[in-house]
Amino acid sequence: MRIVVTGTKGQLAQSLLACETADISLIAVGRVSMDFEKLQTIAPALASTQPDVIVNAAAYTAVDQAEAEEARAFRINATAAGAVAAAARKLNVPIIHLSTDYVFDGRADKPYRETDATAPLNAYGRSKLAGEKTVATANPDHVILRTSWIYSPFGQNFLKTMLRLGETRDEINVVADQYGCPTAAADIAGAIVAIASMLRAKPDDARLRGTFHLAGSGDTTWAGFAQTVFEEAARRGRKRVNVVPITAAEYPTAAARPDNSRLNCDKLSEVYGLRLPDWRSSAHACVAQLMSGA
Ligand SMILES: NC(=O)c1ccc[n+]([C@@H]2O[C@H](COP(=O)([O-])OP(=O)(O)OC[C@H]3O[C@@H](n4cnc5c(N)ncnc54)[C@H](OP(=O)(O)O)[C@@H]3O)[C@@H](O)[C@H]2O)c1
Repeated sequence: MRIVVTGTKGQLAQSLLACETADISLIAVGRVSMDFEKLQTIAPALASTQPDVIVNAAAYTAVDQAEAEEARAFRINATAAGAVAAAARKLNVPIIHLSTDYVFDGRADKPYRETDATAPLNAYGRSKLAGEKTVATANPDHVILRTSWIYSPFGQNFLKTMLRLGETRDEINVVADQYGCPTAAADIAGAIVAIASMLRAKPDDARLRGTFHLAGSGDTTWAGFAQTVFEEAARRGRKRVNVVPITAAEYPTAAARPDNSRLNCDKLSEVYGLRLPDWRSSAHACVAQLMSGA
């Protein structure tokens, strides 16, 4: 099976490339041959890779910057995502597209299901929600995976920022009133490979198609996430760092974020038999990987 992923340096793209085996080829297509802001580059670049499945992991992911660049976020996250899905349809292959917990407003008091009403609070969330629609419209053979709070040894993410800040600080203020599910890019990548195999094996199974939530098991706050990272780092010999819980109101950002963006992942478990590990064990593994320099 040839899985082609959009983007080369992204967290998820890098994690997918690490899943290559003798039976599964992973091919990353990046900006050199395909720029999401040049729509005409998308279909030829994807066709040349002869994919069995396309994973659209490339996106405009700068959540705060998107407030000032909403049109650009829409070009990349909605228009280009639709073009990737259309290219997949032309090649007669499924598309697995990544979306976000930020399609929800966070006012619910329990984890969100796929059928819950969407109401993004920020430009990034609006662009990703629009992308879900362009993808679904362009290719009925699609899986849209909404995930959340991605971290990995690659690129920029909260876990890496905490480890970096912890090198020079004894105390860090972290938001403690926003709840979500930290998710390891490596765990998403493993699930995507399994999903791709099942889509290929059952091309006519409608139950396997549609929108699914895919996030680390369990939930926490940003402060709880930071605390876990620092505890694991200390267990491995780093100095202790004190997490001071603050409110989101005390940490203003350009983009508003939902207070609750926990995702209920039961549908993925029921349909695909997949459930991601507890977020803590995967976070420990990521800290270990980063601290060992692997
Ligand atoms: N990060 C999170 O916490 C989070 C949470 C929920 C959902 N998601 C979604 O999950 C997916 C993967 O996220 P991630 O964290 O892996 O993202 P990431 O690390 O920010 O990587 C984004 C990728 O998109 C590519 N890209 C951006 N603009 C492009 C353009 N104009 N043309 C071509 N490629 C372009 C980048 O290319 P280069 O390699 O050239 O830089 C990079 O490979 C995205 O759909 C994101 O919206 C992320």
